[in-house]
Amino acid sequence: MCGIVGYIGQLDAKEILLKGLEKLEYRGYDSAGIAVANEDGVHVFKEKGRIADLRAAVDENIVSQAGIGHTRWATHGEPSRLNAHPHRSASGRFTLVHNGVIENYVQLTREYLQDVNLKSDTDTEVVVQVIEQFVNRGLDTEEAFRQTLMLLKGSYAIALFDHENKETIYVAKNKSPLLVGLGDTFNVVASDAMAMLQVTNEYVELMDKEMVIVTDKKVVIKNLEGEMMSRASYIAELDASDIEKGTYPHYMLKEIDEQPLVMRKIIQTYQDENGKLSVPGDVANAVAEADRVYIIACGTSYHAGLVGKQFIETWAKVPTEVHVASEFSYNMPLLSEKPLFIFISQSGETADSRAVLVQVKKLGHKALTLTNVPGSTLSREADYTLLLNAGPEIAVASTKAYTAQIAVLAILAAVTAESRGKELGFDLVKELGIIGNAMEALCDQKDEMEMIAREYLTVTRNAFFIGRGLDYFVCLEGSLKLKEISYIQAEGFAGGELKHGTIALIEDGTPVIALATQEHVNLSIRGNVKEVTARGANPCVISLKGLEEADDRFVLPEVHPELAPLVSVIPLQLIAYYAALHRGCDVDKPRNLAKSVTVE
Ligand code: M6R
Repeated sequence: MCGIVGYIGQLDAKEILLKGLEKLEYRGYDSAGIAVANEDGVHVFKEKGRIADLRAAVDENIVSQAGIGHTRWATHGEPSRLNAHPHRSASGRFTLVHNGVIENYVQLTREYLQDVNLKSDTDTEVVVQVIEQFVNRGLDTEEAFRQTLMLLKGSYAIALFDHENKETIYVAKNKSPLLVGLGDTFNVVASDAMAMLQVTNEYVELMDKEMVIVTDKKVVIKNLEGEMMSRASYIAELDASDIEKGTYPHYMLKEIDEQPLVMRKIIQTYQDENGKLSVPGDVANAVAEADRVYIIACGTSYHAGLVGKQFIETWAKVPTEVHVASEFSYNMPLLSEKPLFIFISQSGETADSRAVLVQVKKLGHKALTLTNVPGSTLSREADYTLLLNAGPEIAVASTKAYTAQIAVLAILAAVTAESRGKELGFDLVKELGIIGNAMEALCDQKDEMEMIAREYLTVTRNAFFIGRGLDYFVCLEGSLKLKEISYIQAEGFAGGELKHGTIALIEDGTPVIALATQEHVNLSIRGNVKEVTARGANPCVISLKGLEEADDRFVLPEVHPELAPLVSVIPLQLIAYYAALHRGCDVDKPRNLAKSVTVE
């Protein structure tokens, strides 16, 4: 979480930093700040809140050729102007922005900063103060930076500015993402390529425990021993229009609407020249040869993993477990002889998932990452990667990445099934094509979804989602979507589980959204709907065509039932969207959250 950006070159740094931060705002929006330099000195602007608040506070007449900026998701210290980055050293000579968590900041304070009066509650300020202490002892800035980095424990992407040398930005990374963007008359650094796309599409990747000295003409990469590292640049195939909202009021709505297109792109990407589904041979072998698959993920990606487990077990007959990453590290089950780990992560940067990846790599196990972001940390550090090809997902609430994850897992399971000589019994390419059309039809029924949201969720303080089998997994996702953007307390339950306690919460008018897409549990879920209705609930049944009953609120187009999660989630995404909208919530940037969760 948090996003950083730095620029040095001929253009107006202030504008490039602000535009870059706008693109990084998904990483945190508790506060924001920039430090820019010109011949008059260094000017720091910070504000609590959004980039728009910062923009309003920045002196628009300032022209500058270098600077650093930050958008914050608070970890140490409340969201406030005081705790906003950039942080300055005691003398004011050094300014620093940081994304990550410095685990040993208390110890560093004790050892190096006894006489320094810290102004903020952040771990970050400690870093800039320690750098200054080293400079006070006679080191030059680069060496002071290096020595400080050697002391840091935890995660960081850092950009440092020395006011006595306004021609250089010092940057470094460990575990937190950071890229350098190259230009002819400038260089730029940022947590994410999207922040730099305004000026360049040529990037250099940085590795953990590297530092970089950036001027307008040169980018020098060194390891922490001070040795020069050479690294080729690459051209990113990102399209600037992919990261714009266009005519949509919110990214979330745009991304929901993109799902049919993403489905088609995935089918295309994972087809060979004969139209057969395929994944790279080593990936298929890795799954086929594993005696057990362990899926590791968080949040929405975890929910996609639950659906994917069904595919891998039912079609490919490989036993599969799904684990929440943040629990797995210290709650590790007894592993099988030949496990394969599958990490699912839209961003590819989630710290909880990465912690498990590091752990299982140390144990010598193979890992495959399913991610939307090529070159992301989880992709680089795993043995294999399958890309989601969903295009940038900007809204904090994940939508198109979820359906893309399920589709890619389906393809992986089908290809593995084939290599293990197991029959699927249907044509997955054809069925995914039907899914694409069904998604399109659903996206065209937004008015209906808006009505459902108005009818069921306008005044309620809570809502329940119930389903069985695959529907239960989608209910978990539907309830997460609703709670994260509308702040309605929402929970997803296995239909049969309600009567074991939670049914006590049902009172007159409680909305209960029930999914009924699975024939083998249809009667049971219908029974659960009757149970809650008898206790006053306001039921909203969403069923699959062929299973519908007279009072169902919405009927989904007919699709292969094993792939139903790909379509049943769309009404839930849209209902959550409209519920949040009706309540006046900030749909794309819900409170307390960030898109990329890079702290454990
Ligand atoms: O980038 P990842 O897929 O690893 O992110 C995992 C979760 O943080 C993410 O899915 C989160 O739950 C979303 N905000 C849900 O909409």
